[in-house]
Amino acid sequence: MIDPRPVLFSGVQPSGNLTIGNYLGAIGRFAEFSEKYKCFYCVVDEHAITVRQVPADLRRRTYETLALYIACGLDVEKNTLFVQSHVPAHAELAWILSCYTMFGELSRMTQFKDKSARHSDNINAGLFTYPVLMASDILLYRASAVPVGSDQKQHVELTRNIAQRFNQQFPDTFVVPEPVISTSGARIMSLAEPDKKMSKSDPNENAVVRILDDRDTVIRKFRRAVTDSGNEVRYSPDKPGVSNLIDIYSCFTGKDVASVEREFDGLGYAEFKTAVGEACADRLAPVQAEYKRLLADRPYLEEVMKKGAEEASYYAGRMLSKVRRKIGFVNL
Ligand code: TYM
Repeated sequence: MIDPRPVLFSGVQPSGNLTIGNYLGAIGRFAEFSEKYKCFYCVVDEHAITVRQVPADLRRRTYETLALYIACGLDVEKNTLFVQSHVPAHAELAWILSCYTMFGELSRMTQFKDKSARHSDNINAGLFTYPVLMASDILLYRASAVPVGSDQKQHVELTRNIAQRFNQQFPDTFVVPEPVISTSGARIMSLAEPDKKMSKSDPNENAVVRILDDRDTVIRKFRRAVTDSGNEVRYSPDKPGVSNLIDIYSCFTGKDVASVEREFDGLGYAEFKTAVGEACADRLAPVQAEYKRLLADRPYLEEVMKKGAEEASYYAGRMLSKVRRKIGFVNL
């Protein structure tokens, strides 16, 4: 039977060791949606191959990302957790939607511009059409809500445009989704260059805190974080380094910005940075313990993948067959 609740979809690429940006902007928030929505959380391995991957690493990270989903609190009975390439409907719908997506629209995507600058030796067609695959992920499940960090907002907006264009020609096909972006933690910045997003592929290890970094490493990285001139812990556009740390501390402790500023009034940066590191390490410790336990049990993770693929295929198959019928393909 189809679940009557509104649908939510989100995904994470298994393309690197996940950071606290991924945690605070996305994966750490996922569990809170499990009651109100029918949730699909996907490990998007097909997206990951738009940049070159070592096959063995990609396979290992697919297991690791699934284990992290569960370790971050996603109950496998309440959520559908699955791997994108296990449901061929994603790639199939992506082809159809690519015929309803304009070259100009894709050319304007900032992530494409950034990634093609960073991987200038490999500007492949998949890197360019990546947002169409993402639209297909979301639209296949009739998702109305898509929790993401703010860097993915533009892709969700493109998904809305594609859905609306398609619906105009073929009414009542897709649900037009909304991005769900939290007010804090939606854009965690690099600890080394606070005007840049914290990114799992950053070659400077001191710029990123990984969900799986041990306690000492977490605290050391925060102690080294670039701060601004002065010594006042105050949230302000002219203090991007300190503001980023306040945002992180506030997310990990649940305190609002004003009370963080009060707490560290007159204390200086060194004490503040240590406190941020400790709060972060405290939050990550139980996630890491659960992750370790899960990763040691591959048969269990494969069972979860199989169950997820079956559930997702059922929903995706219904939508794909509806789209095929509408556009004039022969369904046998
Ligand atoms: P990905 O794998 O780059 O990142 C996964 C999620 O983490 C968020 N995120 C951040 N949030 C806050 N601060 C940061 N520094 C930070 N870095 C990353 C991302 O916004 C994302 O929510 N295209 C997507 C994956 C995807 C997807 C989807 C998401 C594929 N299909 C369908 C939603 C719905 C991506 O590359 O995320």
